[in-house]
Parts: sequence; structure tokens; C-alpha cells
Amino acid sequence: MKEALQKTTEYLIEKGFMQPEIGIVLGTGLGKLVNHVDIEVEVSYNHIPYFPTATVEFHQGKLIFGTLGGKKVIVMQGRFHLYEGYTLQDVTYPIRIMNELGVKKILISNAAGAINKEFKKGDLMLIDDHINLQGGSPLAFKGVSQFGERFVDMHAPYNPRINSLIKEIALREKINLHEGVYASVLGPQLETRAEYRYLKIIGADAVGMSTVPEVIVANHLHIPVAAISVLTDECDPDHLQPIDVQDIIATAESAEPKLVRLFSEVIKLV
Ligand code: HPA
Repeated sequence: MKEALQKTTEYLIEKGFMQPEIGIVLGTGLGKLVNHVDIEVEVSYNHIPYFPTATVEFHQGKLIFGTLGGKKVIVMQGRFHLYEGYTLQDVTYPIRIMNELGVKKILISNAAGAINKEFKKGDLMLIDDHINLQGGSPLAFKGVSQFGERFVDMHAPYNPRINSLIKEIALREKINLHEGVYASVLGPQLETRAEYRYLKIIGADAVGMSTVPEVIVANHLHIPVAAISVLTDECDPDHLQPIDVQDIIATAESAEPKLVRLFSEVIKLV
């Protein structure tokens, strides 16, 4: 992996990805933040050497470099999911690349289902902690110690300082921002009623199919990270309606301006 990382990094530096300060990962239906970025370079994932696209069907994602809130940013428009057949190493490879390029902070967004009954469709949730239900770790590989320690501390995986800045901005901007625990599942099928009940009992406030591997690797690399879920459906096991993925994407898109405001403002301050 060392050699691949080096080759990918060289390619991106040659393309002009020079000293990004903040890395941003945008979730499903949440790509419009890039409209606010003063873009200098953009490259399709399938053109980037060693990027995890070759083995699976064409992936439409793009890696973008530019300025947002006065900072140099590198933005992943579209992420890799385990449910697409990628491995945990593939899914987190872009985080390792951000690290190689010198990123100092990482911000992540995702679409998630609301488990907490107080939380409504279209609301935002700042992730305070997580439960990994994806059945694996992106750090469980031979030679992990070449990249950092194996037994990574997770007492505060989401950076408390960035999280308090985000909460202050939400108050100021009058954005209703919940805070809670995100459970990551493999997917791609949605949960059964029994699974939603279980998730509630174990302490999850929201459920989704991403983010946790990226956050584990950011912690491995000692990069402060924060993440926000856009709640796209209400997972009430006693009144569960069939979930329509198009509806999930539409809800993410309509809540997106709030997320764009939070991310654009916090970038100025971190
Ligand atoms: N479950 C899992 N992932 C999701 C959901 C959900 O209900 N909504 C959006 N992503």
C-alpha cells in the first residue's frame, strides 16, 4: 500500500493538489457543497492511479481541489461504500491520500435514518460517537503498524473542539442540530423492524452505511475529524413505511443547504 499511496499522491500533486488544509467527504445526495468551492482542479476517480475504481463498475465520483471559506480544501464528491463491493481498505484509501497530501482536519457528511424518535426527517445530527456494525475494521490488516499504532484509542473519535464550533455556528445560524450516536451497517438492504428496535436498544440515534471506516482511519492518522448526518427517513419500527431510495436522496438534497452553511462556516474557524 505504501507504494500505491506514493504514486497516487505524486499524481495528485502533479495535477495541482497543493497543500490542502481541510479534507471533505460528501455523502449521498450531498454533493452541492462543491458549487461553493472556488475550484482549481478536478479529477474523476477513475483517472487517479490506484484509486479504488478499477474492479467495480464505473464510479462517477470526483476529487476536487480549491478554496472554500479562505482555506484550501480537497473534496470527495461521492464516496466508496462497502455495499458496492469495495473493501475496508478501498473505502478508506482516500483518507490516507488526504493525509499524504497534508490535510489537517476532515469533515464528513452522510445520509442516515433517524432511530431517535425526537429526530425528524430533514433534520441534521452532529455525530458525537459511533457503533461499528459493519463486521470489520479498516485497521485489521498485516503491516498496519507501518502506518501508525494498531490499538487506536477511540475515547473521543469525533473532535470535541470542531464539534463545539459546529454547535455554536448552528445556534448562530438558527439551524436545528441534534447530537447523537451513529451506527454503521453494511447494507445495502435497509433494516427490518426488528433491526431498528435493536439499534434503538443498543443506543443508536441514527443508522447509515458509511463514515465509520473513514473516521477510524482519521483517528489512526491523528487527523481531527467531525461528521454530520442528514436524517432522510424516520425508522419507527411500530409504524414503518416502505422506504424509497429516491425519497431518501430527495430529502438529503432538500436539507443540504443547512449542511453547506455549517461546513462553509466551520471551515473558516478550524
Ligand atoms: N438505514 C440505513 N442507511 C440509511 C438509512 C436507513 O434507514 N437512511 C439513509 N441511509
